[in-house]
Amino acid sequence: MLATPDPATHVYDKPPAHANPDWTIDQDWRSYNAEQHETWDILYARQKDMLPDRAAQAFLNGIDILKLSKPGIPDFAELNRILMDTTGWQVVAVPGLVPDDVFFDHLANRRFVSGNFIRRRDQLDYLQEPDIFHDVFGHVPMLADQRFGDYMAAYGRGGLRALEYGTLKQLARLYWYTVEFGLIQEPDGLRIYGAGIVSSYGESIFALEDPSPNRIMFDLERILRTEYRIDDYQQNYFVIPSLDELLRVTVETDFKPVYDKIADLPDIRIAEIVDGDVVLTKGTQAYARSQSGE
Ligand code: PHE
Ligand code: FE
Repeated sequence: MLATPDPATHVYDKPPAHANPDWTIDQDWRSYNAEQHETWDILYARQKDMLPDRAAQAFLNGIDILKLSKPGIPDFAELNRILMDTTGWQVVAVPGLVPDDVFFDHLANRRFVSGNFIRRRDQLDYLQEPDIFHDVFGHVPMLADQRFGDYMAAYGRGGLRALEYGTLKQLARLYWYTVEFGLIQEPDGLRIYGAGIVSSYGESIFALEDPSPNRIMFDLERILRTEYRIDDYQQNYFVIPSLDELLRVTVETDFKPVYDKIADLPDIRIAEIVDGDVVLTKGTQAYARSQSGE
């Protein structure tokens, strides 16, 4: 589960009694009932059919490597044996939203924190807080990619620095527009890799095919200044040219001078296009308008 950008229902200020000092809990895989496993299978089947021409190659590879086609909610112990051997990452369960420093420390140490609950049957299409389908199906396949795994671990270290500098608000936008809602340019066209998109049936189609949202080439400084919405499909997607390029402009770049530079610049509103944007699609924003009742 994500510390800052995702809203969640349970917020603790210290690890609850049943949690370990590092906030992790047992996934308690045996406690899932048949209906809960079936909920996973329904969600999985729906995504599986539509993702081959839409999801990034790294994501599709991850599904295969991690054998996520096996029915039922994955058992973290089993998943971690493969993930650990592949990129050194692990998935650990936490009871809800954890404090920022705890979240970043886990990432920096290649532990991805995940909720262990699954959505109810009446929430197949939408829920606000990330459940195990979002956290595991959405996030974990990309962690089987060496480059993306390195990116996430570096993001954890960068998060600890951002806490010191007071620039978490800016850094969280990078997570949002890459890890959660990123698009990538591949030889056959645009593909999705953000967990918030690949775990959502509706947004997987919307992000690539709908004329409403803007699709803009990735620019670090620009993204750190850009607001985002957490309550509906995005109005902006940012497109990376490749995972290597993402690493070059983030992992290999010191953000301190960037934070200093943008400290005096205004934030960029959600659907705004600014000078310097390399715009792939200038969105109509028709969807966002229809939702706001205009
Ligand atoms: N290089 C960044 C910094 O100097 C850290 C970072 C790496 C942030 C990767 C995000 C992703 O803070
Ligand atoms: Fe997430």
